[in-house]
Amino acid sequence: MEVFERYAPYYDLFYREKKYEGEVDYVDSLIKKYAVGETKTILDLGCGTGGHAVLLAQKGYHVTGVDRSDTMLAIASEKKSQKGVSVELQKGDICTVDLHKRFDVAIAMFAVMGYQTANDVLESALVNAAKHLNPNGLLIFDAWFGPAVIAQKPQDKILIKEEGSGSVIRLTRPHLDVISQMVDVNFTVLHVENDVILNCVQETHKMRFFFTKELEFMFTKTGFQTVGMHPFMELEGKLTENDWNMAVIARRAPV
Ligand SMILES: C[S@@+](CC[C@H](N)C(=O)[O-])C[C@H]1O[C@@H](n2cnc3c(N)ncnc32)[C@H](O)[C@@H]1O
Repeated sequence: MEVFERYAPYYDLFYREKKYEGEVDYVDSLIKKYAVGETKTILDLGCGTGGHAVLLAQKGYHVTGVDRSDTMLAIASEKKSQKGVSVELQKGDICTVDLHKRFDVAIAMFAVMGYQTANDVLESALVNAAKHLNPNGLLIFDAWFGPAVIAQKPQDKILIKEEGSGSVIRLTRPHLDVISQMVDVNFTVLHVENDVILNCVQETHKMRFFFTKELEFMFTKTGFQTVGMHPFMELEGKLTENDWNMAVIARRAPV
């Protein structure tokens, strides 16, 4: 079974406190700062349950979301109906999907690029993003910043959320592999009600972390120019070992 399929039903519960509004305002600020010309259309690569896509649509952008997980897309579809906004949702792999149209901006939020762990897979994701962008179009994503991951090291964590009359407990046991630039994020999710385990999900999310020079190189190879890499949620600023999350902005080279 694909990663996320069994984790997906709990996704919005776990990330209920994630500041999607603030992140969408941030993306909007990056667009206003760096876009050449007016931005009307946004492609959300790895849109998941549509947290960003729906809010961007509410801001007036025409948004298309792509994800390979049926379950995540089903939740996104329900969310857009509930909010009464129009977001086009498409099942597909961001490395290969062909939407037969181009966008002003592409985003890949919440470490989506980190899931493209192999170099050739990351390259395909970037090539395909470039293929879907208008000349000068922006690619914006957040990613784990290597120096911070190595300095701080991923930690075991426990998260407990109340769900109806029960609880959902998530144990996170990450394994860092510095040489392969990867963290295996091992999740165990237990849905418990009245001393009974209703569901137990175990998933490993393989996450890659990045260094600025490799991204610059990858961008050059895939038809992008690097615009900037900053601490996530900052418009300016130099990355340090304190910045686990970085914002990456690249521009599709004009053809
Ligand atoms: C951490 S979630 C982020 C979802 C959403 N962007 C958000 O911020 O809530 C990562 C998402 O990326 C999707 N994903 C990862 N790699 C993908 C790929 N190659 N093609 C399509 N979707 C992918 C997963 O299915 C998952 O929904």
